[in-house]
Amino acid sequence: MTGSERTDGRRTPVPTQRFARAAQAATTPATERRAILADPGFGRHFTDHMARARWSPEEGWHGAEVCGLRPYELHPGTAVLHYAQEIFEGLKAYRQPDGGVALFRPELNAARFVRSARRLALPELPPELFVESVAELVRADAAWVPDPATDASLYLRPYMFAAEAFLGVRPAQNVEYGVVASPAGPYFSAGSAGITLWIDREHTRAARGGTGSAKCGGNYAASLLPQALAKQHGCDQVLHTIDVSGETFVDESGTMNLFIVTRDAELVTPSLGTILPGVTRDTVLALAEAHQLQAVERPVPLEELVGRIDDGTIVEVFASGTAAVITSVTALRGPGTRVAVASGKPGRRTAELRRHITDLQFGRRPDDRGWSYPVLDRLGADSGEPS
Ligand SMILES: Cc1ncc(COP(=O)(O)O)c(C=O)c1O
Repeated sequence: MTGSERTDGRRTPVPTQRFARAAQAATTPATERRAILADPGFGRHFTDHMARARWSPEEGWHGAEVCGLRPYELHPGTAVLHYAQEIFEGLKAYRQPDGGVALFRPELNAARFVRSARRLALPELPPELFVESVAELVRADAAWVPDPATDASLYLRPYMFAAEAFLGVRPAQNVEYGVVASPAGPYFSAGSAGITLWIDREHTRAARGGTGSAKCGGNYAASLLPQALAKQHGCDQVLHTIDVSGETFVDESGTMNLFIVTRDAELVTPSLGTILPGVTRDTVLALAEAHQLQAVERPVPLEELVGRIDDGTIVEVFASGTAAVITSVTALRGPGTRVAVASGKPGRRTAELRRHITDLQFGRRPDDRGWSYPVLDRLGADSGEPS
């Protein structure tokens, strides 16, 4: 790795002193790995390594390493199994045109991980350790970063959980941190054709003062029933709503933030508070001006969303997230509601924003905002066997 010698203005990787690579892990045979990478799906396959660290009040963070992927042996009384004291993150590593590998704005994931930890009374992992753990895992498993031709990438899943065997309800005194990696193709099988959302008014994902803005497993457990109901109604994802003083507002969708494009070129998205502050959401807002759109963050009443799709003043709806990137929402359904957005086909702005973001992530366009975070210049000594 020659990151510290770069002269092209891109930031250099964090030095990798702490997440040292432990003994060589067993590696998946190259033919098997290639077959997986040809059709990775999402979240089905895992790479050969993982990053790990532990925390205790006496030792703080310790035992940082990148080692072979291995299971945990958990005592049945382990706190996370009972009280769900757990948080996680999701980001990706992207193959670059020169064969190198880069992350995209990992500092934002690191900062969100700190905020989630605070809300769940877990110890805060210093952001530089977070980024280093992810970068070092990618270096160990560089051969698993897919060819970018199909917009596939290596999904990275940092997580932290209460590992202590104790049945009292209190913040854990023993905590495990880890990162696993999984090659990822498109999140939705409908791909760029657009998805349909099921408007859920029955279950609330988050309330003010709750955990909605933290990335904790409990939020996702509570979203599984609404998601299953969305599928039963023939929809791809659920659109969560939230009631405030008797009025229903748009919250977010499954694992994505929601955006609206109006006929007069406003790009509207629900304000932060109960929703997850998405990295992709932040990126879209930052790019709005370059697409001649005026970014507006405000509460969005559900009635306004449906009514303005109906009267044609909302011309595009899309959802944003690391896994789904930018995905066009072409229809909404709910009890007594069935609307198609404009022509029912993905809109121009949605496609342009998706293109802009994926071009930045895959290094196909100059990194004029310093968002790309290179971890490998090319497949070299760190990459294991060549792909
Ligand atoms: C509930 C929820 N909202 C929004 C997002 C989008 O966030 P990001 O763009 O950081 O992936 C995600 C994905 O992490 C999510 O799980």
